[in-house]
Amino acid sequence: MKKDFIAISELSKDEIFELFARAIELKEKTKRHEAHPLLLGKTLAMIFQKPSARTRISFEVGMYQLGGYALYLAPTDISMGKRESIADVARTISRYCDGIMARVFGHEQILELAKHATVPVVNGLTDLLHPCQVMGDMLTILEHRGNLEAITVAFIGDGNNLANSWINMAARVPMTLHLAIPEGYDPNPEILKSALKSRTSSIRIFRNPIEAVKNADVIYTDVWASMGQEAEAEKRRIDFRNFQVNDELVGHANSQCLVMHCLPAHRGEEITDSVIEGSNSVVFDEAENRLHIQKAILAKLMA
Ligand code: CP
Ligand code: NVA
Repeated sequence: MKKDFIAISELSKDEIFELFARAIELKEKTKRHEAHPLLLGKTLAMIFQKPSARTRISFEVGMYQLGGYALYLAPTDISMGKRESIADVARTISRYCDGIMARVFGHEQILELAKHATVPVVNGLTDLLHPCQVMGDMLTILEHRGNLEAITVAFIGDGNNLANSWINMAARVPMTLHLAIPEGYDPNPEILKSALKSRTSSIRIFRNPIEAVKNADVIYTDVWASMGQEAEAEKRRIDFRNFQVNDELVGHANSQCLVMHCLPAHRGEEITDSVIEGSNSVVFDEAENRLHIQKAILAKLMA
């Protein structure tokens, strides 16, 4: 594995499956309250330019369970790039800490951080990607199905950081990936091009969600307006109105289909209450698996 974890596309298929195996092992130990101090005495700096519940809590708890310590650095604490340059922040933190996890706006900011840090940098979400989320999500699918053979995943909504991360996953792990996305909101063209070039998976963009969920084993959705796009929320509510994951849409997929959402959810917008609370929903299994997969990633990079 490389020094940092910025994108799923940096991993090989074998490395992805090794991380799943490690996460399952660590999950069992965690459930048994069995000590696993793989990062004893190590520290992780967590830089947040945006709000977070799951990412902040799972990384902080994960470091504690691994015998280390995590520092939460709120948006106003460092003011990275404003109070001082990203390069100086990276070099300073590298003298104190054994790793950095960062949630930033521009993807170029995490690349700059990784370039200047001498310790591993983990992507806790950028406007472009959210790799830890989709790693935890695939682990969740693996646990529910028992394998990842011939799965069809239907992503419904915005061509955002989650959609891009799903495309990166499809470039490594074979699957059928259907993306139902309104015109004008397509995923990143370079990421899509590179995934198609890898010929690992069948990837198709649909404008009609009903067609996209046909034979789907997983229906995945995310908010219509991501963090930083609040001003566009009203327009997006109109543009995405036909892309809601509701009971009718779920009825067009396989009956055993898993319904997934990275959370936080805007109930009544991209997903209805009835679907997220329904028997197909595994949203809290996904949230839990953030902890286990990230511990596997941290242990791999920092141990
Ligand atoms: N899914 C996720 O990353 O949640 P938070 O934004 O709460 O961290
Ligand atoms: N696409 C969302 C994901 C939140 C976990 C956002 O970037 O706000």
